[in-house]
Amino acid sequence: MLGSSLVVLLAAAAAAASPLRARSPYAVKERHFVPRGWSSVGKAPGEHIVDLQIGLKQSQFDELERHLYEVSDPRHQRYGQHLTPDEVHDLIKPHDETLDLVHEWLEDAGVERPELEYSQARDWIKVSLPVNEVERLLDTEYSVYEHESGAHLVRTPEWSLPRHLHEHIESIQPTNSFFRAGPRKSNVKPVGKKAEKPAGLAVKVAEAGSASSSVSDVCDEDYVTPTCLRTLYGTIDYVPQAAGQNKVGLANYLSETNNRSDVSIFLSQFRSDATKAAFNFTIDVIDGGDNQQTPNTAEQNASGKDEEGNLDAETILGIGYPTPLIAYNTGGEPPFTPDDAVTSNTNEPYLTWVQYVLNQTDIPQVISTSYGDDEQTVPLSYATTVCRQFAQLGARGVSLLFASGDEGVGTAGSCISNNGSSAATFLPSFPDGCPYVTSVGATKGFSPEVVAYDELGSGSIYASGGGYSNYFAQPAYQAAAVSNYTSTTLGSAYAGLYNASGRAYPDIAAQGQKFVVTWGGDNILLDGTSASTPAAAGIITLVNDALIAAGKSPLGFLNPWLYSEGYKAFNDVTNGSAIGCGVDGFEAAVGWDAVTGWGTPNFPKILEILGLN
Ligand SMILES: *[C@@H]1O[C@H](CO)[C@@H](O)[C@H](O)[C@H]1NC(C)=O
Ligand SMILES: *[C@@H]1O[C@H](CO)[C@@H](O)[C@H](O)[C@H]1NC(C)=O
Ligand SMILES: *[C@@H]1O[C@H](CO)[C@@H](O)[C@H](O)[C@H]1NC(C)=O
Ligand SMILES: *[C@@H]1O[C@H](CO)[C@@H](O)[C@H](O)[C@H]1NC(C)=O
Ligand SMILES: *[C@@H]1O[C@H](CO)[C@@H](O)[C@H](O)[C@H]1NC(C)=O
Ligand SMILES: *[C@@H]1O[C@H](CO)[C@@H](O)[C@H](O)[C@H]1NC(C)=O
Ligand SMILES: *[C@@H]1O[C@H](CO)[C@@H](O)[C@H](O)[C@H]1NC(C)=O
Ligand SMILES: *[C@@H]1O[C@H](CO)[C@@H](O)[C@H](O)[C@H]1NC(C)=O
Repeated sequence: MLGSSLVVLLAAAAAAASPLRARSPYAVKERHFVPRGWSSVGKAPGEHIVDLQIGLKQSQFDELERHLYEVSDPRHQRYGQHLTPDEVHDLIKPHDETLDLVHEWLEDAGVERPELEYSQARDWIKVSLPVNEVERLLDTEYSVYEHESGAHLVRTPEWSLPRHLHEHIESIQPTNSFFRAGPRKSNVKPVGKKAEKPAGLAVKVAEAGSASSSVSDVCDEDYVTPTCLRTLYGTIDYVPQAAGQNKVGLANYLSETNNRSDVSIFLSQFRSDATKAAFNFTIDVIDGGDNQQTPNTAEQNASGKDEEGNLDAETILGIGYPTPLIAYNTGGEPPFTPDDAVTSNTNEPYLTWVQYVLNQTDIPQVISTSYGDDEQTVPLSYATTVCRQFAQLGARGVSLLFASGDEGVGTAGSCISNNGSSAATFLPSFPDGCPYVTSVGATKGFSPEVVAYDELGSGSIYASGGGYSNYFAQPAYQAAAVSNYTSTTLGSAYAGLYNASGRAYPDIAAQGQKFVVTWGGDNILLDGTSASTPAAAGIITLVNDALIAAGKSPLGFLNPWLYSEGYKAFNDVTNGSAIGCGVDGFEAAVGWDAVTGWGTPNFPKILEILGLN
């Protein structure tokens, strides 16, 4: 049902605008299919304001990538010599000619220089314009799209540029990216019952000073706590020494925040020495992000608001304390409200977030993100430009961890290509397919750990996500491991449903089932690679602590290290599979596999291969 004011707005929308006269004729720059579940409900109101982000061609991205790989590869003499912000900016700043031509085009359209905002390297230009002006600039027509869930977005499936600008502009959003559409984009699965502490489980063993307790003393598959994780992965008796120089971050999207009151209740039960951190960690609000610290409304309770946020903060502090935590709460919510013609709706969360973070001098060495989406909902240009921003963070020495998704190889019933062919396909996720990030899958059980998944027919659809990107080619650092898996384990299985030459993920895994989380004052249980990712982030943070304390550089972009040496310190997971799309999906195997990567971290062993103990 459309609101009556939306109908009025749609009726009032102006007729199609004519394109600008430009130095060269317009040609379509990019077309992307509207993802399933979205349909146009009419033309966008001409006066609706769009925060247009114009991504310019970076002058030397290939050089930046070379630097990234060199400083991240333990076999290279530059290993650990991460770049300064200025060094990164010098490599990516656009050529003067690019800036001149883009300025000329904007000026011809009546967009004045003072209205433009620039990223520090001037590779992004931001300008707020009404839809009818953007339609002239991009020779396109925006519509209001409605999602099955009721959400609205102002988008266009294709956009154009004067031909001479095609080689100077990489990406413009918001245009055809439907990323972050629905509400199910955080990889968290409520188990749906209050958590009762199993009788006889010694969850507080660490505080009792007994670091020698065994996994079986402190772990229960139905009640996973920080003490269990710290014992299982071997950080329990590690004493952080570099908290003043080390930091860890987490990203909140979709109106999530970290409820300090809940985090405090959680820590007082499971990590009491860390309780004071609950009201002390930093929450950075970006672009109108949410930071509600008052009780949820009934509607918010029903939608599980802050389950994800609480899980992330509680897990990271539960393992990584006293390393300071920074939460980044990025806005864009609420989405386009049809009743308010002038509400701006950038709604491109990674772009907004990464630009904010790249503009900081003091960035956490590890950042955990539990949000993703099907790669095919994102246009290639958007995926590529965001991925390249992530490369800048890697070059500066930041480890970016992303949850690999909770639907195995794809949500059953939706494993259909969006490219017009309607071919059956597995659904790789974004940004896991970006070769410059580390993707984290999920495990369950302890001796041994197996892939986290629910049995087929159990009514739940949770399984650790894994796959092969269609957008990003397989990077050299993983080629040997992945092709061995593809040929030895998969053989001809699932041929045609995945892209064997794509970047494959996940890279590592960690526990991801039945985490105890305090939410609304109660303990509940949550599943998901959403749990695995902050758990892995907590462990890597402590590795960085040990490195920094020894006067060494933090790990930075993990994968070149991981695939060449680091993997030896991960516990191989060989049982289970990425159930999805109605099939068993990619199975775990000896060595790297497309459901748990190299497996789960063994902290003492990691320190050992880094020469730290
Ligand atoms: C970058 O940070 C500076 C100083 O904090 C601020 O003035 C500027 O607006 C920021 N630029 C962007 C593109 O966010
Ligand atoms: C509070 O946070 C600051 C900044 O991160 C840190 O220096 C300080 O040690 C923290 N205090 C406590 C009690 O954790
Ligand atoms: C569309 O996607 C399917 C499944 O991934 C693939 O086999 C096919 O080659 C694609 N078609 C085009 C035109 O890209
Ligand atoms: C498979 O991956 C390669 C390498 O990234 C890419 O060039 C190709 O277009 C992909 N194929 C499909 C059908 O998406
Ligand atoms: C939502 O849940 C919290 C915690 O249980 C409770 O304090 C709050 O009153 C609830 N809100 C409503 C409107 O029921
Ligand atoms: C959030 O924090 C408030 C106290 O500030 C608390 O009353 C509430 O129950 C918490 N959790 C939820 C889910 O609302
Ligand atoms: C794999 O794990 C499942 C669940 O933990 C277990 O029931 C099964 O016996 C295991 N299979 C093998 C071959 O170890
Ligand atoms: C290749 O894969 C097989 C099957 O999983 C495994 O046994 C073997 O160790 C792998 N070889 C290498 C070099 O990774």
